[in-house]
Amino acid sequence: MARLRNLLLLGGTGEALRLARELQGHARVRCISSLAGRTETPERPPGDVRIGGFGGIDGLRDYLVAEKIDLVLDATHPFAAQMARHAHEACAVLNIPRAKLVRPPWVASPGDRWTMMPSVAAAATFLRFHPARRIFLTVGRQEIGPFVPLGRDDGGREAGRWFLTRMIDPPADDVAVPQGETILARGPFAPDDEKALMQQHRIDLLVTKNSGGAAGKIAAAAELHIPVLMIERPPLPPGTALDSVGAALGWINIHAV
Ligand SMILES: NC(=O)c1ccc[n+]([C@@H]2O[C@H](COP(=O)([O-])OP(=O)(O)OC[C@H]3O[C@@H](n4cnc5c(N)ncnc54)[C@H](OP(=O)(O)O)[C@@H]3O)[C@@H](O)[C@H]2O)c1
Repeated sequence: MARLRNLLLLGGTGEALRLARELQGHARVRCISSLAGRTETPERPPGDVRIGGFGGIDGLRDYLVAEKIDLVLDATHPFAAQMARHAHEACAVLNIPRAKLVRPPWVASPGDRWTMMPSVAAAATFLRFHPARRIFLTVGRQEIGPFVPLGRDDGGREAGRWFLTRMIDPPADDVAVPQGETILARGPFAPDDEKALMQQHRIDLLVTKNSGGAAGKIAAAAELHIPVLMIERPPLPPGTALDSVGAALGWINIHAV
């Protein structure tokens, strides 16, 4: 009998979880899911799981060799640019097939009031000169820092904003959160619930990454005519990009021979 092919599945997304479930009991593939270890209680994928960084490109390369990895499916978040680049570079050196599963981005519809931002930092700078006062901030707890000065109530023209900051886990004790209210919650969120939340807090601007996937907050902002600062995705590394779990399964089946 042919040996199972070892697949390293770089995760941290719903798609990676679905893929790990689909690969359970696969006749030719042993799936090892890898999580960064950022969320406190991540949903554990079935099968083998490893948690924590690899130690840069060199660490990842050593891991791929030691674990005899045959294939790498990078299903990390579209904004996990460093992990994607490391996977690309380590696999290129070892000649290991690698593909990136990346969900399609949201696309503005007529009536959407989006302003595209090249980065989270750019969005925070832009906001200094924007009239919005009550902001729904959904960029993840790692990236709230640039918004903190905008919430300070120091009487300056550019300060005094109120933020509804949403994140999955609470920030570390020594991390400042923008002035306002913090809610801890894990999506997906239904459009009606998002609309109610924005109305309840009289939100007049949404700041979000263009993560794609469930678009409850995007639909709610459109319905309420709330402007959106839409943070654009970082570029993907070169190579195969797949836009669905089904396409990723097809790629794995072709390469696991
Ligand atoms: N960025 C977002 O907005 C976002 C949103 C939702 C979920 N996530 C998930 O959260 C995780 C971290 O995201 P990030 O944006 O901080 O990533 P990142 O900036 O691209 O990666 C930073 C470092 O974290 C480690 N890492 C990232 N993903 C990993 C994985 N799946 N397995 C093992 N190590 C991993 C690597 O450490 P070493 O260099 O030590 O190997 C990597 O160099 C990812 O798994 C991503 O899918 C991110």
